[in-house]
This record gives sequence, C-alpha cells and structure tokens, in this order.
Amino acid sequence: MSLARVHNFSVSLDGFGTGEGISRDAYFGHAGERLHEWMFATAWAVEGGGGGVDDAFVRRHDQGFGAEIMGAGKFGFPGWHEDPDWRGAWGPNPPFHSPVFVLTHHVRPPIEMEGGTTFHFTDAAPAEALATAKDAAGGEDVRIGGGATVIREFLAAGLIDYMHVAVVPIVLGRGVRLWDGLEALERDFTIEATSSPSGVTHLTFTRA
Ligand SMILES: NC(=O)c1ccc[n+]([C@@H]2O[C@H](COP(=O)([O-])OP(=O)(O)OC[C@H]3O[C@@H](n4cnc5c(N)ncnc54)[C@H](OP(=O)(O)O)[C@@H]3O)[C@@H](O)[C@H]2O)c1
Repeated sequence: MSLARVHNFSVSLDGFGTGEGISRDAYFGHAGERLHEWMFATAWAVEGGGGGVDDAFVRRHDQGFGAEIMGAGKFGFPGWHEDPDWRGAWGPNPPFHSPVFVLTHHVRPPIEMEGGTTFHFTDAAPAEALATAKDAAGGEDVRIGGGATVIREFLAAGLIDYMHVAVVPIVLGRGVRLWDGLEALERDFTIEATSSPSGVTHLTFTRA
C-alpha cells in the first residue's frame, strides 16, 4: 500500500517550520538556515560530516518515494506566480526525481525538469491531490514535502501515515507554525523520540 509520509520536516522548539519575512533572497525569512544546520553537518551533506543519528534520519528522505506533494510556499517565494519563468528553487535538476504536485491557487501548465522531476500545479483538495499523487507514484509512497501549512492541512484531514519531525533547539518566536489547530493529534499516532548530540530531537509519528 502506498503511504503518505513526511520526512526531515524541521521545526523550532516553539513549533515554527519557517520564519517571518520570506522573500526571494530569504527563503526561510528571519530563520535563515538555522532550521537545517543539523542536515548540513551530516555525512549525507558534506564530506567528513557526521554519521550518527542525524545522518541516519536525513537519508530516509529519499527512500521509497514515487511522488511528492508540496505547497506554493515551498515551491517559491511569495509572488512567484507573477514570474512566468519561475521553475522552483532547486535549479535545472531538482532533487525529487519524480512527479511533484504543487498545491496552489495559481495553476499553470506542468514544467518538466531534468532528472525525472515534473512540477504539476493543482488546486485540488488534499485528499484528491493525494489520490492523484498515489496514482503517479507507481506503487511507491508519496512524500508530503511541506511547508508547515500543507503538512498541517494533511494532518487535519487524517491523510498522513508517517511523519518525521526534527525539533531543532532554536527559538524563532515568529513565522508559520506546524501544530496550530491540531489539538490532541498525538491520539492518532504512536510517537517515538530519538535524541542526537547535535541537540536535535527526532520525533516519529506512526499512525496507530
Ligand atoms: N522546516 C522545513 O523543514 C521546511 C520544509 C519545506 C519548506 N519549508 C519552508 O516553509 C515555507 C513554506 O511554508 P508555508 O507554510 O508558508 O507554505 P506551504 O505549506 O508551502 O504552502 C501553503 C500555500 O499553498 C497553497 N495551497 C495549500 N493547499 C492548497 C490547496 N488545497 N489548493 C490550492 N492551493 C493550496 C496556498 O497558496 P496560494 O493560495 O498562494 O496558491 C497556501 O498558502 C517556506 O519558507 C519554505 O522554505 C520549511
């Protein structure tokens, strides 16, 4: 069975998945790179990087997926839809290597990139978008890639089977929160925690 999974979604101690003041030059707003420094220090990211808990978790992002769903806010900075040439933030060969369904109210024709990634734009409701992505995934799982708003929508709709959240030891104070409106979410999942010497706590949520 094809699952809907979240991996490596990083939140601050106060639950923010991105900062405030997002722009073309500040993709995470005032958070800068702080939510993802733990990833950039792993052997997965750099030669000589750490090979411990953080590395083991970060690598799972690429395993067993045939499609991704992401929000308009992950695909681009606020206002990207006014730029007809905007093709995402990942260069000509994005790291998805699969169909990617971008949830947006600014639908445009699909964009085929190098390396097997095609961006499809849809304003479908979460359940409908997930059904389409599962069809495209050829029996593999669908990654729900973020940002916080989209993951929150899919959690609220009961559509997430598995979620890995990396709680990073920083306090952002402002931005877009993951947990708002999801009261008692913990009742639907078996939750495990793994601590890393980096200070990151990896939480996994497996649908009960
Ligand atoms: N912490 C992490 O690990 C992580 C991971 C990925 C991304 N990020 C960051 O998170 C930020 C983006 O997150 P976000 O919460 O602001 O936005 P987001 O979740 O990426 O996208 C939300 C937007 O997607 C569109 N959308 C969502 N559901 C839709 C539906 N059913 N139909 C049509 N449109 C729909 C709407 O935009 P429109 O109405 O404008 O179309 C909505 O405002 C960026 O800063 C990104 O860099 C963080």
